[in-house]
Amino acid sequence: MRWIGTANRGYSPYAIEELRRLLDGGTFSQLAAGETFLFEAASDKQDVRELIAAKPPIFLRHVQPVEQELEIKGDESDLSGLAAIVYDNKERLAGKNVSVHVRKGPVSNFVYTPAETKDALRPSFEALDSELVLQQPELIFAVYAAADKLYAGIGTPDEMLSDWPGGAIRFQREEGQISRAKFKLLEAEKTFGLDLSAYRSALDIGAAPGGWTSLLLERGLQVTAIDPAELHESLKGHPKLAYLKRNASEVKFGSNAFDLLVCDMSWSPMQMVKLVLELQQSLMPQATAIITIKLMHRKPLQTIREVIAKLEACFKVERAKQLFHNREEITLFLIKK
Ligand SMILES: C[S@@+](CC[C@H](N)C(=O)[O-])C[C@H]1O[C@@H](n2cnc3c(N)ncnc32)[C@H](O)[C@@H]1O
Repeated sequence: MRWIGTANRGYSPYAIEELRRLLDGGTFSQLAAGETFLFEAASDKQDVRELIAAKPPIFLRHVQPVEQELEIKGDESDLSGLAAIVYDNKERLAGKNVSVHVRKGPVSNFVYTPAETKDALRPSFEALDSELVLQQPELIFAVYAAADKLYAGIGTPDEMLSDWPGGAIRFQREEGQISRAKFKLLEAEKTFGLDLSAYRSALDIGAAPGGWTSLLLERGLQVTAIDPAELHESLKGHPKLAYLKRNASEVKFGSNAFDLLVCDMSWSPMQMVKLVLELQQSLMPQATAIITIKLMHRKPLQTIREVIAKLEACFKVERAKQLFHNREEITLFLIKK
């Protein structure tokens, strides 16, 4: 059984390393340098899905089964070939809400855009009484156009690790949005299944210019924001915001003051761990922490292992994941023990 895996640009070698360990081997070949790869696992489809679900790899953003493949001809017969695959799978697809995700590699003989492909396939889905939807599909019909082959497969959003093509989740930029960093916390909220509005009192360390703080305030939390840099003007004076224009290492809080800690500083991982461990007494038992960990040097998997080993003294590590909006970093979701 073959699959297509996708990681953030430059991180596929680490996703491959994680998969090799998880699946006890496998063969891997590159489709888009540093980003997308084809792999074949010895285990069957269900086993691969269960192994990935039980221990989701940090750097694997998206995974698509390859159930059928077509030689690309570069003309309309490519679209009729895909329509035939839809028909072949009529029992699985009939009556379902389906998203069609089409991605193209950097070089491909496939001449159609994702939108054109979707339009061409629409009648095939309509004939099965399937509804084509953009969000919250029951099933995804995924197609990856490599140089000379089309790889197609069907799965649920959970099985593919995302309901966005290739896991490239997009949020609408809002009018007056303070920072791009806000997308990271929005994505963490969705990916980790958090309900931020269920928390009461958050500590945001490295808060400026204030994207994360603004989201926490929108969710109705009391926020204490720490940063020697200025918070955005639009936040100042917010009745639920306490802003301390200070260095994080200078501040101390009472016990059990916060049920949420968020921390998005571009610090070295070990400095970050030290800071978070020093702050732990100010967190309530079972408090959540969302922390970005900068990947400074060439061995991210080793760095992450060391960071997690240290944090486990006080926290249960629920997830470690490189989100689509993370650049040279990953995000940790922790629960205080
Ligand atoms: C990536 S930005 C944070 C962006 C923020 N999450 C947002 O949504 O706008 C990192 C911030 O960490 C702050 N920072 C760096 N060192 C710090 C320290 N010792 N104490 C507190 N904040 C610090 C920087 O001033 C910077 O504003």
